[in-house]
Amino acid sequence: MTKSANTMWGGRFAAGPDAIMEAINASIGYDRRLAPQDIAGSRAHAAMLAATGIISDSDAEAIREGLLTVLSEIETGEFPFSTALEDIHMNVEARLRDLIGEPAGRLHTARSRNDQVAVDFRLWVRDQCDQADEALAALQKALLGQAEAGADWVMPGFTHLQTAQPVTWGHHMLAYVEMFARDRSRFADARKRMNVSPLGCAALAGTSFPIDRDMTAHALGFDAPMANSLDAVADRDFALEFLASASICAMHLSRLAEELVIWSSAQFRFVKMSDKWSTGSSIMPQKRNPDAAELIRAKIGRIFGANVALMTVMKGLPLTYSKDMQEDKEQTFDAADNLILAVAAMTGMVADMTANREALKTAAASGFSTATDLADWLVRALGLPFRDAHHVTGSLVAMAESKGCDLPDLTLEDMQTVHEGITQDVFDVLGVENSVASRTSYGGTAPSQVRAQIAGWKEVLK
Ligand code: ARG
Repeated sequence: MTKSANTMWGGRFAAGPDAIMEAINASIGYDRRLAPQDIAGSRAHAAMLAATGIISDSDAEAIREGLLTVLSEIETGEFPFSTALEDIHMNVEARLRDLIGEPAGRLHTARSRNDQVAVDFRLWVRDQCDQADEALAALQKALLGQAEAGADWVMPGFTHLQTAQPVTWGHHMLAYVEMFARDRSRFADARKRMNVSPLGCAALAGTSFPIDRDMTAHALGFDAPMANSLDAVADRDFALEFLASASICAMHLSRLAEELVIWSSAQFRFVKMSDKWSTGSSIMPQKRNPDAAELIRAKIGRIFGANVALMTVMKGLPLTYSKDMQEDKEQTFDAADNLILAVAAMTGMVADMTANREALKTAAASGFSTATDLADWLVRALGLPFRDAHHVTGSLVAMAESKGCDLPDLTLEDMQTVHEGITQDVFDVLGVENSVASRTSYGGTAPSQVRAQIAGWKEVLK
């Protein structure tokens, strides 16, 4: 049996598509998410067509009411989605025709699905930038809460995951507050650049109808109409900027997730996840698994994947629109959903976790973490060149290692065998609390610095 031709372009076609053609061609399975944006775009377009005298006011009114009905049908789940109608644009228009008849056919004047989809997707991605911003602000607040609770708690700072120098818990939490602030500013930058309107660029060349593109741009909250119709229908860099920003943000989330996995292990015990954010094992009763952190770490792959996939879709396309570009949506939706979910899960975990002050402190004091303080003291108190001080300190670390003790446990006599100038004062710098308190340079880990930074962030995030 031959299917009848598509009602949207049936004039030129005797028969409908093969079933497999329909399957590969249809995007309605996922682009139905663009329904609210599609209807907003159509409403703006119809109002403009009437204002410029291209269609009558009564047709525009019928279209407006019909579109509101379509929207409510979609919201209540009554809308009859059809794969044969390919995508959200044609589904909406066909339903509009069922509802209001002839005026529906005038909506597509001076417009094409090419500018239509560019508008819809831009509006959707713009909204995701706002949602990401809001979610990240909540995460920053959760991190700030942790920073405040333990502004002066000492913990080991790591390089190469080897104990490096003592730092403060508040300082470590604030490092992520900074990263997520940059992520927010990347989304904000991307949003600014994407906030221009493709509507009225039609298929690719613009239109001969006397449209008012400023009017539709303004109605949809865009800053201006896009200046080149070819660019407007062919470009997807707005989605790529979103995905690139999402990828960098996801990378930050994954690093924090990795730290939480390590920190919540029995070997570290730096943090305890709340019951709400832990899972047990069906066989090992002692387990408290940080599943949410692990899933965040893993889900990040989809976001990177979406970025690479869309770059790959776009990179070989001649101007302007090619159907390849229909593949821009599904993975962007998935990436955005998973980003927002990951940020929300991270926010919950961070807000609810308890840092183990004692374990942090014990770990901070191990691994000769104040060796740099000792070297600095040799420079300051004895006037040694830093390289010599580094050498002397290295010998003292080796001595402590061979005695199975830490630097502050060496006696003054022991130390003087390595350098006779060392005095009792050296012990003032060897404790971890002394060490962190001394790091008062701007951006340093001293509690005084950390508290000043917390105060600044509280202003910004309130
Ligand atoms: N569903 C299509 C997409 O997402 C809409 C644009 C179709 N345009 C066309 N000329 N076939 O890209």
